[in-house]
Amino acid sequence: MTTTVHKAGAIPIGHPDLVAEIISEIRASGPITFARFMERALYHPKFGYYTRATEPEERIGQSRIGPNRIGWDGDYYTSFDVHPILAQTLARQIRQVDGGLGSPDTFTVIEMGPGKGLLARDFLAACEKDSPTFFARLQYVLIERSPMMIAEQRRTLALWVAAGKVSWLNGIHELVDGSLTGVLLSNELVDAFPVHRVKIVQGEPKELYVADADGRFVEQTGPLSTPALARSLARLAAMDITLPEGYTAEINLEAMTWMKEVARVMRRGIVLTIDYGHTAQDLYGPDRARGTLLCYWKQLTSEDPYTRVGLQDMTAHVDFTALAAVGDEAGLRVTGFTNQMSFLMSLGVEQELDRLEPGTKEFQEIVQLLRPDGMGRTFKILIQHKGIAEPALDGLKFKPFFGSVLAPSASKVAKS
Ligand SMILES: C[S@@+](CC[C@H](N)C(=O)[O-])C[C@H]1O[C@@H](n2cnc3c(N)ncnc32)[C@H](O)[C@@H]1O
Repeated sequence: MTTTVHKAGAIPIGHPDLVAEIISEIRASGPITFARFMERALYHPKFGYYTRATEPEERIGQSRIGPNRIGWDGDYYTSFDVHPILAQTLARQIRQVDGGLGSPDTFTVIEMGPGKGLLARDFLAACEKDSPTFFARLQYVLIERSPMMIAEQRRTLALWVAAGKVSWLNGIHELVDGSLTGVLLSNELVDAFPVHRVKIVQGEPKELYVADADGRFVEQTGPLSTPALARSLARLAAMDITLPEGYTAEINLEAMTWMKEVARVMRRGIVLTIDYGHTAQDLYGPDRARGTLLCYWKQLTSEDPYTRVGLQDMTAHVDFTALAAVGDEAGLRVTGFTNQMSFLMSLGVEQELDRLEPGTKEFQEIVQLLRPDGMGRTFKILIQHKGIAEPALDGLKFKPFFGSVLAPSASKVAKS
């Protein structure tokens, strides 16, 4: 997702039916956690940002609402809107993993949160073209929370559906323990999980709740809603990360649950997670004292989650140290941690660029994915493995971080 500073005008509170539902929930049972608010705003079954179908613009007070959330005509774009090279590079990397697994009869790629299905489309096309034998053994499974997005994936992947190459599951819970041989892949999934927000007030961690003030949403602080938040703060303290007075931080408990689930289903293979994010030391450092919560609407960003509720995306940066630590406790070892630029360079993107005329559209698109002041460094890639010896992966040849950047925290944290 890209950033431009948003200048507020007359901004609607949000989708009227969604706002009414959240307000009535608050009136019935009191202020709700920010995580519950974000859950409703993004994934309410009928009116959530990702789940709602397109509606007439006068109904929701917007000047232009297209069917697309993601893409150039949507609210934000992702790497797969820019150029297929990342999908093609992932295909190359994953074929190497297949070799390391001894080319099993069926190699499964599960993609979670596939959005429009562009990664799947370009990944499958690259495999079919470059490695028909791998392609013959490949099964591509999508897990997507939004029915609206599934409908779009079915359109994007119609050819592969007809060929029996892709299928869908309703959730990772449908997989039995140790059933996956292959790869679990995601791009910008974890940053879309609802987060709790914690603020340090008079030296104590308090949670941010969302309350109702005459039909508008306002924030209140209150006690931590779950001991899991205190455990997360204790994990940080064990790494000598203490949040100072006034600091506001997001804590992504769903990411921890997800990581454990991923470890549970993995038998032999890797987990490859691409997202905005940082090590815990960077994420909870002094530069981010207001947290990283950001909203996206028509390619603009805003820090206000209480307007355009259900009409704008909301995200928070990912704590890769926590993912690595929770994964490690559940049997997933860290293979490596890199950024998108280093990953693409390690897998030969320069040769692709050499083929192209500098200044052409395609050349510029690939450069955009590599930019050190943009997508190249903002996006990190965490690779974890289970059931195999530590794989030597080409995508991890260039190392932008010290090898131990995630490991010490993984070994120091208290078990929760
Ligand atoms: C930011 S979009 C990223 C889309 C796509 N991966 C891309 O890079 O273009 C996040 C996607 O994850 C989906 N999602 C969020 N939580 C999910 C979950 N628990 N299981 C499956 N999909 C989920 C959303 O519906 C949305 O399609």
